[in-house]
Amino acid sequence: MDYTIHPIGHVEKNDSGIYLVINPNVWDATVHIDHFSHLIVLWWIHERDTPQDRSVLLSNPPRNKGDEPSGAFSCRSPVRPNPIGHTIVQLLKVDPAHRRLKVDHMDAHHGTPIIDIKPYLPSSDRVDDAKVAPWFQDLEPRYTRRIT
Ligand SMILES: C[S@@+](CC[C@H](N)C(=O)[O-])C[C@H]1O[C@@H](n2cnc3c(N)ncnc32)[C@H](O)[C@@H]1O
Repeated sequence: MDYTIHPIGHVEKNDSGIYLVINPNVWDATVHIDHFSHLIVLWWIHERDTPQDRSVLLSNPPRNKGDEPSGAFSCRSPVRPNPIGHTIVQLLKVDPAHRRLKVDHMDAHHGTPIIDIKPYLPSSDRVDDAKVAPWFQDLEPRYTRRIT
């Protein structure tokens, strides 16, 4: 079974900041979004949406120092069977005039299609004592910083 996804907006990065620009037909879906400080943004990794990229199941996580490759479901590679990325962002401002949400950072490129936005809920979305793979533990802090 195939499913169809319609983007609900796109990422815009310019000199004044980073924005989630929302399509006019779904702008009303942002009502009360300012009640939340943080959002989970789901986006389409569109520059890696090719049959070849989608067929890659094993990737080398960044700087894993020669360890075995990890499965696409075991790392954050942009090359995966369904090219879906996600980023947790802080909502800085709702801008109804331009139908956009200003956020603090975003690792998706300028122009990336946004496929969904959900409010971040600390009670269900946060895990304090999560185990992570050795390759991630070993990353230097400069590689784990947030990307704008
Ligand atoms: C490793 S992915 C992880 C993304 C996301 N935070 C996640 O966990 O799903 C981040 C990489 O995707 C790349 N990237 C961002 N937007 C992209 C797009 N639209 N198409 C292809 N690659 C993209 C960035 O350059 C970055 O190196």
